Amino acid sequence: MEKQVFTGELAAEALPGRRPDGHKGDFGRVSITGGSVGFTGAPVLAAYGAARSGSGLVFLGVPEPVYGIVAGHCLEVMPSPLPAARGKISKDAFFPILERLNSCDAGLLGPGLGRSQELPKLISKILEETETPLILDADGLYAIKDRKEILQKRAERGLLTILTPHEGEFHYLGGEPAAGRETAALNFAQEYGCILVLKGPGTVTALPDGSCYVNPTGNNGMAKGGSGDVLGGMILGLLGQMAAAKRSAEADTDKARFSKAGISEAGGITALAVYLHGLAGDIACKELGAYGMLPSDLTARIPAAILEVQ
Ligand code: APR
Ligand code: MG
Repeated sequence: MEKQVFTGELAAEALPGRRPDGHKGDFGRVSITGGSVGFTGAPVLAAYGAARSGSGLVFLGVPEPVYGIVAGHCLEVMPSPLPAARGKISKDAFFPILERLNSCDAGLLGPGLGRSQELPKLISKILEETETPLILDADGLYAIKDRKEILQKRAERGLLTILTPHEGEFHYLGGEPAAGRETAALNFAQEYGCILVLKGPGTVTALPDGSCYVNPTGNNGMAKGGSGDVLGGMILGLLGQMAAAKRSAEADTDKARFSKAGISEAGGITALAVYLHGLAGDIACKELGAYGMLPSDLTARIPAAILEVQ
């Protein structure tokens, strides 16, 4: 096991560059699918996590009944309504989601998605059909818990999948934290060929090549509903920038395939997002205190966190 504490120096190295003549397309188009009746904040927090991390364009697909509420909280990110049933995204949303993902550099499935009978099938069909790098969080993870072989199939095709469970979510995915958080995360990443982010104090980012990063930033003021949604968006935003740079550097046919070096770079990007998320939390905690700080205060402090490592 190759374990490394992620440092400010590693963060500075991993931060994607911004070319002076860059336009929005150069900094990644990213897509979030989530939200449901009762969970309207999660997708918005994720969207601003991505936008504040440097994304060129952020799209947000939410079920039609909550579209108006979500749109009322979106200025710089672009929401769209998706077909819904009983307040959640329905199977009829498959083609609009797929079409959007296929035109994007990276996608996030899960924040505030909720649970329904239709969702496991819908989410797994999306994982099978799109070659776009994907992040699964929250109920996006719940949706694949009995279909994990899809992760292996994506890995065999050279497609990138990142999972971001907290301990509880890791448990129902079949993770065995009793073996120790790092070992358990690495075992999972290696078995399923994905990058696994096991959240909590000292978040572990495990790569399928057997290496892992342990995160030193963050505090208990972040233990509030919504912090994880901000992180999902930050990973998405930074991964989108990496994938957009890769797209412009490589032949079109190879743009979705990740070589060993590509996965290792994506692992560094993921650990960078985790580091910056915790650092934004530490900055918020200093200013506001652990009791009163909120996940939206994290998104507001992503710029300061990036300036600190830059
Ligand atoms: N120290 C450092 N970091 C912490 C601490 C702590 N004491 N407590 C929490 N964090 C960080 C975690 O590392 C993680 O990045 O805050 C984030 C919390 O993320 P989640 O556990 O996903 O929590 P939450 O944002 O509430 O998730 C929202 O999604 O996962 C579902 O069931 C969950 O409904 C909830 C929703
Ligand atoms: Mg969560």
